[in-house]
Amino acid sequence: MQIRIIGTGSYVPEKALDNQALERMVDTSDAWIRERTGIGSRRITQTGTTDMAIRAARRAMEMAGLSPEELDLIVVGTSTGDCLFPNTACEVQAALGAKEAACFDLSAACSGFLFSLNTACVYLESGVYRTALVIGTDSLSKTVDWSDRGTCILFGDGAGAAVLKKEESVSRVGPFLMKADGNRGEVLRCMGTPLRNPFIKEETDAKESVMGETGEQKSEENETDFGYLSMNGQEVFRFAVKTVPEVLEELLWRAGVSAEEIQYFVLHQANERIIGSVAKRMKQPLSKFPMNLEHYGNTSGASIPILLDELNREGRLRKGDKLALAGFGAGLTWGATFLVW
Ligand code: COA
Repeated sequence: MQIRIIGTGSYVPEKALDNQALERMVDTSDAWIRERTGIGSRRITQTGTTDMAIRAARRAMEMAGLSPEELDLIVVGTSTGDCLFPNTACEVQAALGAKEAACFDLSAACSGFLFSLNTACVYLESGVYRTALVIGTDSLSKTVDWSDRGTCILFGDGAGAAVLKKEESVSRVGPFLMKADGNRGEVLRCMGTPLRNPFIKEETDAKESVMGETGEQKSEENETDFGYLSMNGQEVFRFAVKTVPEVLEELLWRAGVSAEEIQYFVLHQANERIIGSVAKRMKQPLSKFPMNLEHYGNTSGASIPILLDELNREGRLRKGDKLALAGFGAGLTWGATFLVW
């Protein structure tokens, strides 16, 4: 029995923010953004990470022809969930009515979908579950400092999903690879909820908290200081152009196929120059590297499943096609997955 993808779906918000609009917000230009990144526009959510996930999931489930009750597992790759808890997967479960499914989120930033896909495959391979819904959904727009031209031009919001089933098939998912280097976490970071409790305040900064006349505690720092995404762009660039070809080469070796046999390399949509560099290193034509980043920017964990769904719905994937998926992101994390469609 093989694990195969039986349905894909995606969703991007309607609100588009093009480079011309960004020119009015920060000191940048359409020409600079296009030349350095290939991005022309991005979508911005007004409903949040869960809502986008549900919409993408519904589309994937419809294509799969699976009833929600048949789902054994929901894994959501996200680093921008609406809530710290419940997890996004539980909220998707409730919306779909997938009451038999085990649900959890997986945090691996832009590698989130690939890590989720690979993790779901391990459950299916081992026989614990037979079906799974895997989603990549992110709202980086809420982590971006919209006055920082070095980062706000890059990211957009969206969600993508795939439904997996274990059955007799020529199609298959795997082998796959997941890599991480926690020593380089500073290169791309976004702080979460600040550590805030009365005991820390007692010992550190007395200014932060004063006892009111009635004895209740008052905080002088009321705003939720989640912090913004910070990035060393050049370091990330260097990391990506080195690790993505390496992980792809290892993947192809493990799968026992050559780069020439791959129909499409479905890569994380961060930067056209990164994708171009990978194509060059792999000695493969750029036409094998589909891109949609011009329209959506970097949608983090959603970029690979959105692109996969577009290729699928446009009829560009034929049964038996060999695909290599690869992504990278904060952590640092990176990984790859081989598919026979
Ligand atoms: N518009 C105009 N100028 C900008 C700018 C913008 N949006 N952002 C930065 N600049 C300026 C810089 O201030 C710098 O000016 P200076 O030379 O006067 O100091 C100059 O452009 C060059 O900046 P630099 O950071 O060296 O540019 P770069 O060629 O490395 O491009 C990135 C910057 C962010 C586009 C590029 O490094 C990148 O894409 N890195 C990967 C990021 C990524 O993919 N992150 C997500 C990972 S999942």
